Amino acid sequence: MLEDTDNAVIDRPVDPAIANDWFAVGQSGDAARGQTLRRRLLQREIEVRRDASGALSARTTGAAPCAARDHCGCIFICLGPAPKPLFALPEFDAPGRRFVYMGAIGVHTGGLRVVENFLDMAHFPFVHSHILGTEEATEVRAYEVELDERQELWARGCKFVQPMASAASEGEADVDYVYRVVNPFSPLLYKAPAGHAGEADIIFLFVQPTEEDDCTVHFAISLVDDSHSAGEITVFQQTILGQDKPILESHVYKRLPLDARIEVPSRADAGSSAYRRWLRQIGLRWGVEPMAAAAPAPLVVEVADKRSVADGVAAFTLRSPAGGPLPPMTPGAHLDVHLPGGWIRQYSLCNGPADDGCYTIAVKREDASRGGSAAMHDAVRPGDLLRVSLPKNNFALDRSATRSLLIAGGIGITPLLAMARHLAARDGDVHLHYFCRSEAHAAFRTELDRELAGRWTLHAGLTPEATRNTVEGLLDGSDAGTHSYTCGPLPLMQLVEATGTAAGWPRERMHFEYFKLAGPVEAGGMPFELTLARSGRTVQVPADRSIVDVLRSIDVAIDTNCEQGVCGTCLCTVVDGTPEHRDQYLSAGEKAGNMQMLPCVSRSRSQTLVLDL
Ligand code: FES
Ligand SMILES: [Fe+2]
Repeated sequence: MLEDTDNAVIDRPVDPAIANDWFAVGQSGDAARGQTLRRRLLQREIEVRRDASGALSARTTGAAPCAARDHCGCIFICLGPAPKPLFALPEFDAPGRRFVYMGAIGVHTGGLRVVENFLDMAHFPFVHSHILGTEEATEVRAYEVELDERQELWARGCKFVQPMASAASEGEADVDYVYRVVNPFSPLLYKAPAGHAGEADIIFLFVQPTEEDDCTVHFAISLVDDSHSAGEITVFQQTILGQDKPILESHVYKRLPLDARIEVPSRADAGSSAYRRWLRQIGLRWGVEPMAAAAPAPLVVEVADKRSVADGVAAFTLRSPAGGPLPPMTPGAHLDVHLPGGWIRQYSLCNGPADDGCYTIAVKREDASRGGSAAMHDAVRPGDLLRVSLPKNNFALDRSATRSLLIAGGIGITPLLAMARHLAARDGDVHLHYFCRSEAHAAFRTELDRELAGRWTLHAGLTPEATRNTVEGLLDGSDAGTHSYTCGPLPLMQLVEATGTAAGWPRERMHFEYFKLAGPVEAGGMPFELTLARSGRTVQVPADRSIVDVLRSIDVAIDTNCEQGVCGTCLCTVVDGTPEHRDQYLSAGEKAGNMQMLPCVSRSRSQTLVLDL
């Protein structure tokens, strides 16, 4: 049964981008001991019960229990199987503070719209005229935005002159704001008179998304003002929300558009732009206006199996949650996997030709992991849903080859395993050489022994010199029909390339899969003018600076990771102009489409480039 009417039972999975997030559904006092509350959350009916001892429990109607907690004066629910930690707010219990729950207000628009508006200071002078701003002072001064290691979005150093900043206000004041978004539907605002950060009132605007285009907003405050009654404070804050509500409800798009080709917000400032970019990055689809671009929709897959295949290496089998086939892959292909915590990582498919109902990937736990491999090892479990791209192949087998020499180093075995399995299954002339630190580090031994008997060699624990000698032996005297394919640590890739070149191998017969750039990023190029579609700002990008570098210098936040055009973190939508692609992330087809680009390395062929920033 799958209907989108108000009271329908929705049996499709919660969007994996938010499945393990917590959502406020009321204040703690709403559920007395022995009482059951009924709430609607993410198109599901929820029953929340407080037992005689005061403990909370919750379940979706007719389905499994879900997590429920009291936190910061509110009741929070998480529908997913692996709830993330609830946000920390030590100030909440600090002496001298009191908590006022100001009510639950229905807003007939998508919850993401409400959060975006909350983060946007540029509307103060126009919507909250003579309270939060004046039309004489409309400029939003530059401030810093960052996504921290807990994947919370912070905007710090926001300043605004406000005629009446709070119920306790005694006239116009310069006010310091810090915004904190603990998950896509739950923002907080620390608001203090300039220079008095320790006395900040903390405003909670926790959205309970009911439908994709409807929500209830839980509005509360933790404050230091002891001179005003809860009623006076509530009236003041409700006046503000009352001014926003009709504007929010009159948007043409009630779900938030993340693509500038649908709607270019003319007054959005850095916080709300960063918020949209963050939502795009975590792959959120629920409550979001579908992208106008022709980009292929990412898939949702279920983790059907997770197992250790070598020291520090976990393999994951991914299947369609509804059963049935997955889009086809070719040997050498990889997936972009959207991880819990917002990371996007590329993992090669290890599939053999018989594995058409699943994708298999393997992930090595990296010691210096910034989150990607650690998230896969620690947070992802069988039964979880993951959002992935369609398989992309930048490392395909050459059909003209009569013999294939496969050279794998460490976790670089993954694409080569798929190649070897496919070639062996059709009795091709193939041999796989697998270099790794020790026998215990060799992954997929069972598959290799079963499917590649006599066609693979393990080189475990070789010294650098022995590795060099072995590679020289492998590349000595090939015939014109032999192609080599290499994937592994950079030194091995460089060794194979240098040795092959010295032995007379033409470059078109040597294939490499890089997950890090082999050489320095190509620098410099034609200067051009860059326009940021969301703010209308225009800047010059000189010949010797990257787009990301220029954006940082004007305080426009952009998330980056590798800054080498490899990881895809900085991916932007191109609104106008022709990019000069210098990355290794986009496929040739995506580059030719010019819909997206990686501004950490790519530049512009046209004199003007307009990006959705
Ligand atoms: S930051 Fe990795 S591609 Fe730009
Ligand atoms: Fe507002």
